[in-house]
Order: sequence, then structure tokens, then C-alpha cells
Amino acid sequence: MSNNKLQVAIDGPASAGKSTVAKLIANEFSYIYCDTGAMYRSIALKAMRLGYNLSDERIIVEMLKNTNISFEPNENQQKVFLDGQEVTNDIRQEDVTNSVSEIASLSGVRSDLVKRQQAIASNGGIVMDGRDIGTTVLPNAEIKIFLIASVKERAERRFKDNAEKDIHVPLEQLKHDIEERDYKDSHRKISPLLKADDAIEIDTTSMSIQDVVDEISKIIKNNG
Ligand code: DC
Repeated sequence: MSNNKLQVAIDGPASAGKSTVAKLIANEFSYIYCDTGAMYRSIALKAMRLGYNLSDERIIVEMLKNTNISFEPNENQQKVFLDGQEVTNDIRQEDVTNSVSEIASLSGVRSDLVKRQQAIASNGGIVMDGRDIGTTVLPNAEIKIFLIASVKERAERRFKDNAEKDIHVPLEQLKHDIEERDYKDSHRKISPLLKADDAIEIDTTSMSIQDVVDEISKIIKNNG
């Protein structure tokens, strides 16, 4: 199969560098990039704005029937639209970040979003990042990468990202939030964060972004 048609699944815990790396890989191969976390975040944002209880599966699944999420490529950052309105920055705010695991644990929400993700990836030529891409969304992806990094390193990365976005949360708090999110993402009943048996694990703790991109790029080229 030609490289243009490959499906690349990049999974791993929060702040392991998945989206930064996935975007660069997508650029290098002229693939589509799909940030599945942004989809869960958009659903959480909409439910919060409507004042819904985030554990009320029935009402949230009903809401999904009238919910459109789309992406628009941009130079550095992919723009995210919820029902036609840009929410790129809104979905990164701490209140969404801390509530999204609850939404992501609802089976009705997951099955709806997984279907949308599979449709986006159906023609290949895609880099998709998330938690369950290699295990559930694209179990036949040719390339499966599982990125990990220490909690300390991930909290420091998020701290720097936040500073650029003028979001100020103490480092210790970020460490605590990351540990809590890791726990919730790994222990939920449906599609928990899990490395697929055939995924290649890369520990990015002491690697630069470029090193990680080079390593994944080599894996893709060797497969093509
Ligand atoms: O990668 P992120 O921080 O933007 O993800 C937001 C949340 O969505 C996170 O709590 C895990 C969840 N998520 C998921 O359950 N499955 C995915 N494929 C992507 C994200």
C-alpha cells in the first residue's frame, strides 16, 4: 500500500506530546490530522454551556444528534468548530480539561464519536491521536504508536503551553490533575487508555519533539 493511504494511530496519556507530534507527522506526509481529544472536549464544552449534568448519558447522547464538530487546518494549530462556531481556545480551558473525562466515560458518547472518527479515517492518509485509536477506532491501522512520558515532564510541558495561552495554574496542581486524568482514562470501563499489542511504545521524557517526529517518520517510511 502506498504511504499516502496509511492510517497512523497515536495514543498515550494526557500531555505526552501526541498532538504536537501528530500534526508534524501529518504535515510531513501531507496526511489529514484528526485530534479526537478535541472532539470529546467540544462535547464537554457544549454540555457545560447548556448546563447539563455531565453524567446524564441520555441527555448528552440526545444532544449529540444535533452536534457538528469540524476541523480546519491552520498553519500551527488546527482550528476546531462546534456547530459552526470556533472553539479552538475555549476547549483548552481548565474547566473543560477537568470535566472532559466524565463525558469520555459515557458509552453512548464514545460509540457516536468512534463512528465519526472511523468515517474521517476511512480513506487512509490520516494521523489520528487519542487514547483508543489503535485499540478501538482503527484496530487495523498500519502504524500504531504509543507515546509516554513521566508525570513531571508532562506537567512541565503543560505549564509552558499554558503560559503561552495566558492560562496560569501552579505546576503542582497540573501534576495532580494529570495523575487524576491518567487514573480516570486508564480505569474507565469502556475503551480505557491501553497500549495495543502491536503498538510501538516511545518514551518521550528526554526526547525533543523533532527526535520523536524523526523516529515515527522512520517507522512510517519503513512500512511504506
Ligand atoms: O488528549 P486530550 O487531553 O485533548 O483529551 C481530552 C479527554 O478526552 C481526555 O480526558 C481523554 C479523552 N479522550 C478519550 O477518552 N479518547 C480519545 N480518543 C481522545 C480523548
